[in-house]
Parts: sequence; C-alpha cells; structure tokens
Amino acid sequence: MMRRKVTIVGAGNVGGTTAQRLAEKDIADVVLVDLAVNMAKAKSLDILEAGPIYGYNARIVGTGDYEETVGSDVCVITAGIPRRPGMTRDQLLEVNTKVVASVARALGERSPKAVLLVVTNPLDAMTYLTYKVSGFPKERVMGMAGVLDASRFSAFVAMELGVSVENVQAMVIGGHVDMIPLPRYTKVAGIAVEELIKKERLDAVVRHTVEAGGEIVELLKTGSAYYAPSAAVVEMVEAILKDKKKILPATVLCQGEYGLRDIFIGVPAKLGVRGVEGIVELRLTEEEGVLLKKSAQVVKAQCETVDRLILQETK
Ligand code: LAC
Repeated sequence: MMRRKVTIVGAGNVGGTTAQRLAEKDIADVVLVDLAVNMAKAKSLDILEAGPIYGYNARIVGTGDYEETVGSDVCVITAGIPRRPGMTRDQLLEVNTKVVASVARALGERSPKAVLLVVTNPLDAMTYLTYKVSGFPKERVMGMAGVLDASRFSAFVAMELGVSVENVQAMVIGGHVDMIPLPRYTKVAGIAVEELIKKERLDAVVRHTVEAGGEIVELLKTGSAYYAPSAAVVEMVEAILKDKKKILPATVLCQGEYGLRDIFIGVPAKLGVRGVEGIVELRLTEEEGVLLKKSAQVVKAQCETVDRLILQETK
C-alpha cells in the first residue's frame, strides 16, 4: 500500500495528541512541525517508541523545517495559542492570524495538492484565512469544529439517557463560537432525541454542549481541550485518506448553500479524497435559520478583521 503522509503543524497538546491517534491508527506517516523544534522531536520520538507495543509502523518525524512536509496528503494546522480562562475565541483572533497565515503559506507551497484542515481558533475565521493565503480551491480547505461539537452533544445525550454513545447520532451546525446543536437532526437508535428527553432536560444538554469547550478551559487553566479535539481531527483525516465519502459537520466554504455566500461555517459536508465533495443542505425551521444567519454574521465580522490584518501584513 502506498504510504500516506500527514503533516501536523503545532506540537502542543492538540497537535501531539493528533499525531499519537494517527500513529495508533497506522493510516499515515506523520510529520510534526513546531518552532519549538525540540518539543516536536521529543513528542515524535516518544510516539515512535510506543510503536512496538501498539504494533504500528507509521513513521513519525519531529521538525522545525517545512521541507520535511513536502508532498503531504493532508496538513493539519493547530499552530497558535489556545484559549486561557476568561479569554474568548475572538481575542485569539489577532495573535493567531499572524501565525496561521505564515503556516498556511509554508504548507501550501510545499504540498500544493494537500487538503488543509484547520483546528486553530477562532476556527471559522482561521479556516477562511487559510483559504485566502493558500489560494487553494475551496474543496481542499476545511476546518474542524462540528465533529467535536457533535461528539460532545452525543456524549451528553448518551449520559442523559443511560445508553451507548454508539446509539447517538448528533448534528451541530454554525460557527464554533456560537454553534447550533440541532435536536431535530439528532437521533438515538433512529429515534428523534426530542421524543426521548423532555424539553427542559434537552435544553440543558444543548447548553452543556455549547459551553463544553469553555468548561474545560476553566478547569484546565493552562489551555483548552485536546483529547476530543484530536479525536475529531482524526475522524476527518481518516474520512479523507480512505476516501470514505463520510458526511460530517465541517467548516467549509458556502457559496449559495443555506443562503450563505463567501463564508466558512459549520455545515454537514461529504468528506473524501478530494476534500469537501459536497455540502448537505438540511431543511431548517425558521428559528434554526435565524440562528445560522446570526452565527454567520459573527463569523463574517471576524473575517473582516482577518482581511484587515493580512492587508496590514502585506503593506
Ligand atoms: C473547544 C475550544 C478549544 O471547543 O474551542 O474545546
């Protein structure tokens, strides 16, 4: 079998855990890039040295040199600073715009055929930025948030009902900043969740989902979540590498879908070897539609800031 190559930029908690999960699945060789070269090297060696026990043969390289990334199939961008307590995703915008712009350029030049998968917050704006500076077609730029948000929703629904997480299929759309869990499109063993959980309790589960990222930031103090985020990244990477045509909520460019234009936002998308191979248009109620429009406005405002910041940079 041809060896596949996945580059992960950022050897922090999300990047490191993503490298570990990918290695354990043994679906690709991994290049872990960080300005903190020794951190990237240390984590890569550590993961490599677990291979004999787990039985994976993936090659893991830690480096500060983008030349190692040449010809990657998928590039995952986790570089930037994470949220700290009291910090909103928006406050990250300015710092992370600089970081992600340079990363996206460096990757795009060396892996012109790759799919770029963005994880850095504020997610939707960083995905837009990556699209802009890479010049890649919209099919090959996407962001990870919906899979994470939907996994959290599923976990809490399963807890509430005392059933297996495997029975729950949840849907969350919108920007990662103000995501929109969709109970109407969430099923438990095929049964609508609204039939199984009373409204009041379901509202609480939805709220918990929306606040789940912040809850972990408050508890951790030093950063944000990484176990579930890395699991979400790997599900997307696997869908792409294995050309699964898997429908997952992802941050993708809408050009007319959902009545939105020129905006990266979370919607269900079909992921395969060509990247985003389609967008699934859910039929929304008026109320859900209004929430999506509002969420889109928040993302738009962030993207305008990004535009200003990259304009300044090139001056
Ligand atoms: C989260 C932060 C990282 O959702 O956005 O966990």
